[in-house]
Amino acid sequence: MKKVQKMIFPKDFLWGTATSSYQVEGNNSNTDWWEWEKAGKTKEKSGVACDYYKRFKTDHNFLTELNCNVYRLSFEWARIEPKEGEFSFKSIQNYREILQDLKDRNIKTVVTFWHWTSPIWFQKNYGFHKKLSVEIFSRYVKKITEEMGDLIDIFVIFNEPMVPLGQGFLSGDFPPGFKNPFKFIKALNHIVASYKETYKIIHKIKPDAQVGITYLYNWYEAQGLGFLLKAINRMAKWYRIDLLGNKIKGYQDYIGIDYYRLGKIKFNWRNIKIDSKNQIYFGFTIEEDKNNLMKWIAYPKGIYKVLKEAKKKHNLPIYITENGVPTDTGLDDEARIIFIQEHLKFAHQAIAEGVDVRGYFHWSLLDNFEWLYGYQPRFGLIEIDYKTLVRKPRKSFYQYAKICQENAVEIEL
Ligand code: BGC
Repeated sequence: MKKVQKMIFPKDFLWGTATSSYQVEGNNSNTDWWEWEKAGKTKEKSGVACDYYKRFKTDHNFLTELNCNVYRLSFEWARIEPKEGEFSFKSIQNYREILQDLKDRNIKTVVTFWHWTSPIWFQKNYGFHKKLSVEIFSRYVKKITEEMGDLIDIFVIFNEPMVPLGQGFLSGDFPPGFKNPFKFIKALNHIVASYKETYKIIHKIKPDAQVGITYLYNWYEAQGLGFLLKAINRMAKWYRIDLLGNKIKGYQDYIGIDYYRLGKIKFNWRNIKIDSKNQIYFGFTIEEDKNNLMKWIAYPKGIYKVLKEAKKKHNLPIYITENGVPTDTGLDDEARIIFIQEHLKFAHQAIAEGVDVRGYFHWSLLDNFEWLYGYQPRFGLIEIDYKTLVRKPRKSFYQYAKICQENAVEIEL
């Protein structure tokens, strides 16, 4: 007989899933990303996506079936402020209905205010490299906090800002498509200023709000070249996590960690070039797992290391705001089941050693639009048929439902 160990999570632990507006809502045509797609910069166009904007009740039924007590979603700025300074009552109403529907189901709400997409007018007239962006972004945040703050439990001002900063201002792969270190530094400083300003605004309106950002916090290791590679790895980590983290010190009520994979940094003399799409920087590359759809190396133990490191640095409550795996399987997604169990096992170990982890959000509830990669990588507990938009829960869905219900994960010994 198989021996199993049940690992129980703390009382009131939050179990959820995460999505972002642009990736699931559909028809977000008033955004810079839509323009980016039109210019042929992505593998596919997002189109109607999952049509979550209209079908949210159907999808929330799945959350209820999953026994989730929290859900992370994001607002689409371009819907809320379609023209500069003009707010759309209709769209605010729709988001209020979305949040209210979650509340009626006893599901807490985590809302991201900016998950990489901006209105066309913002990108055209401003962009984060312009100083006025701070004022413009703060006005948007003030408005939504006044209109909807009562229905939001946890506020995420920016999602993983270093990703769109690097891709949008250094490598040019994301909008606005600059390859300009000066603009990068300006944009970084304005994101920091916008963050601090809106942190204060939200607290003024809702003093007990929990406010923060999410970090893309993967675990990196260096191979070969000894000391030099280790130093480079340390520098890369400083860039990915601490550069921004140090600037917003004292302005975070929690740390949001998006953890996906192991990055093994290697050096290869034959690759002395820059090719950011394939992650090659002057000969330094990241090892790939050929069997993974996005070439990512799954490394469950890394979540433990990241959680311990984040506690040491910040000593704040932590939410695992994203964790997931891209697959191309149908409904039988054994790989996702193992991925979830293993990551939770290591998260549990960190908790047992005193790290204050308060919630886990699986990325994602539904298959969705994966930015430059289009629709091929499938991250959902629920499969979407993109022709009919029919939703079908995968095997992992039922497994995750059990975990959420029991507040525990069972590991085979
Ligand atoms: C982003 C998501 C994305 C996921 C998988 C995260 O870094 O926040 O938008 O879909 O990674 O690549």
